[in-house]
Amino acid sequence: MREKMISVKDLNYKVEDNDILKFINFDIYKNDFVGIIGPNGAGKSTLIKILIGEIENYSGEIEINGKIGYVPQKDEFDKSFPIRAFEVVLMGMYKDVGLFKKYKKKHYNKVKSTMKMLGIDYLYNRNVGKLSGGEYQRLSLARALVSDPDILILDEPEAGVDSKAQIKIYNILEELSKKGMTIILVSHDISMVVKKANTVMCLNKTLHCHKNAVDMTAEDLKKIYSEELELLVHINKPLKVVSKND
Ligand SMILES: Nc1ncnc2c1ncn2[C@@H]1O[C@H](COP(=O)(O)OP(=O)(O)OP(=O)(O)O)[C@@H](O)[C@H]1O
Ligand SMILES: [Mg+2]
Repeated sequence: MREKMISVKDLNYKVEDNDILKFINFDIYKNDFVGIIGPNGAGKSTLIKILIGEIENYSGEIEINGKIGYVPQKDEFDKSFPIRAFEVVLMGMYKDVGLFKKYKKKHYNKVKSTMKMLGIDYLYNRNVGKLSGGEYQRLSLARALVSDPDILILDEPEAGVDSKAQIKIYNILEELSKKGMTIILVSHDISMVVKKANTVMCLNKTLHCHKNAVDMTAEDLKKIYSEELELLVHINKPLKVVSKND
């Protein structure tokens, strides 16, 4: 049987009297490629922040088996801060190294090889404030990957980058998945999620579905998007991808 990486039982999260997440239950196994979809405000980023330990005042049980690498939705990082690209990637190892200890040669080598793998080694000494959106996105990914995580979590990595950069990032994720990494991808790009992920979670406060990507139906999408579905059908044609009879 496959190794369980994440187990969430009866997760509830409220802010004041508002239910943000209600009665969430799921398991994620090694090498799963999970897509999380749902409308704005559905609780996707909140769920991720709970998994990475950034939010603690939830109720329920969460077990994480392994190290998580995290690419946040909108980077809170101040780009006017004078810092070079390799230093951002180094930050991804601070938990391994300890905040006040010195990085060693092996850490710098790891930064180099990770940036090379993502095709951004040419950015090594560049000031972060000058990077393009797509370059910065891959730099965030390098920071998440540099500590060799078992689980990679990405919150809308396609936001704000052009389609070429999106394809690049999805190809990288596919490669990582082939190498055995467990991936959780939050995305509004439903057709891409259904294509690339093995399992899909439909979230809107509660989990409306959690199933194999190939088994997704229009009904599943309707449960979380309701009236927005018409629009989605016209823009993305996701139903073409998910239709079983296609
Ligand atoms: N600290 C907070 N205080 C109050 N409400 C919050 C807080 N954090 C999140 N929320 C609310 O929780 C809900 C879920 O937010 P969340 O950011 O998780 O949504 P999301 O699914 O990631 O949306 P998006 O697709 O827009 O990124 C929203 O209604 C949001 O306003
Ligand atoms: Mg979000």
